[in-house]
Amino acid sequence: MNDQAQGLRNLIKSQNDSSDNKTKVLTITSGKGGVGKSNFTLNFALALQLKGYKVLIFDADIGMANIDVLMGVTPKYNLYHLLKREKNIKEIITKGVHDLQIISGGSGIQELLHLSQTDLEYFAYEASKLLGSVDFILFDTGAGLTQQSLNLMMSSHETIVVTTPEPTSITDAYAIIKMVHSMNQQIQFKMVVNRVTTQKEGTLTSDKIKMVAKQFLNLDISTLGYISEDVHISKAVKKQEPFLMAYPNCSASRDIHSLSRFFLSEKDDQNRLNTNVKNIFYKMIRMLK
Ligand SMILES: Nc1ncnc2c1ncn2[C@@H]1O[C@H](COP(=O)(O)OP(=O)(O)O)[C@@H](O)[C@H]1O
Ligand SMILES: [Mg+2]
Repeated sequence: MNDQAQGLRNLIKSQNDSSDNKTKVLTITSGKGGVGKSNFTLNFALALQLKGYKVLIFDADIGMANIDVLMGVTPKYNLYHLLKREKNIKEIITKGVHDLQIISGGSGIQELLHLSQTDLEYFAYEASKLLGSVDFILFDTGAGLTQQSLNLMMSSHETIVVTTPEPTSITDAYAIIKMVHSMNQQIQFKMVVNRVTTQKEGTLTSDKIKMVAKQFLNLDISTLGYISEDVHISKAVKKQEPFLMAYPNCSASRDIHSLSRFFLSEKDDQNRLNTNVKNIFYKMIRMLK
């Protein structure tokens, strides 16, 4: 155990439980790429922010981060500056629309593609300082399973798996759930089905994944909701504006609002939340030891 990890332990110990418990950490992932994870993360975060919650997105598609592009902002600093010890975690936060906070994982910086254990530990140490200052931290990951995304899932309360109704996306979503579950049975999954043409298509898609996970992994997965196939998403991407702002009444925006209302209405298992939050980034460190 190195000094940094010990430092993290002390930091977590010294944190006031009640403020610490305030922050819920979510990882957004998918098996296949291009399924709409980043658009979902950004607009879901905005919907929560518009409902009065404080949200921070960490764009963890490290080296190929693009939440900033979707939001039309240019972060001055990113993860690279943190790891180079040039800036601290608070200094690399960029404020976007409606004061939404983002930390960019950096883009086009090759060094970021090969993070060392020390880098990850240092990031975890710094990130733990954000606990209590926001209501939600959302990690938007790249597609597929990497050590980095696994670490993030292990440090989160919930992992949201985004899929589309396409068979390739469904099988890849199940594949990632299966792999992650085999490595850690504590990780809780929720599903979002994006690009549905009817509600029925959404239900059929999520039922397929739920059934297989129950049958073969004895794992219960719940559904957060469905987002319609909507041309306004691509139009908003081209305008570099979140679709929730550019087209607040389009079907995808309405879906995001109802999905976030459902998300907020779900009761957290307080016991699980308490235990998890206390150990949140410490777990990440312990795994990296
Ligand atoms: N619900 C949707 N309806 C129509 N097009 C969508 C939808 N969701 C995503 N897209 C399209 O897919 C593209 C990729 O989305 P993105 O969020 O960048 O995916 P990921 O982060 O999973 O790679 C978007 O630029 C958009 O054109
Ligand atoms: Mg993305």
